[in-house]
Amino acid sequence: MFIPVEKATTKEAQYKQLLEILPFYLNDTDPWYTTLSNASAMLDYFMDDINWVGFYKLENDKLYLAPFAGLPACTEIMIGRGVCGVSAKNKETILVQDVHAFEGHIACDSRSESEIVVPIVIDNNLFGLLDIDAPLKNRFDETDKHYLEAVVRVIVDKLS
Ligand code: SME
Repeated sequence: MFIPVEKATTKEAQYKQLLEILPFYLNDTDPWYTTLSNASAMLDYFMDDINWVGFYKLENDKLYLAPFAGLPACTEIMIGRGVCGVSAKNKETILVQDVHAFEGHIACDSRSESEIVVPIVIDNNLFGLLDIDAPLKNRFDETDKHYLEAVVRVIVDKLS
């Protein structure tokens, strides 16, 4: 199956399509930046109402901007700073319904109103993060968390 496909109309069905097709675009033997490039493009294609989707990669105790779709973003984030830094520190998914209410939120794109960050953990070590921003409040819920963690499991499988 190749993109473009006829995209499903509900969020859950879109995630199911994405999870079905994603493995065919990722290869075990590719370097990490190749895997994350296609993963960000596919998330961008299948998700509605988002303005930024991409990855940060942990290097020398900092998070560095990695493959993404969207406007240029902050190039580095300290662990513990912003939504990404807190997710990295705790190795836990964070759902932010209103970025303006999240203390320390780092605004890279002024259109962003809500955000979800999912850590990428390989053998108990933080590899990086998946970060998605939306231009409307309350865009992400437990369904997004469930499916995006499944997407990250596919990515971890290809990277490890
Ligand atoms: N908002 C994030 C920074 C990354 S951008 O959204 C791409 C944060 O607070 O960590």
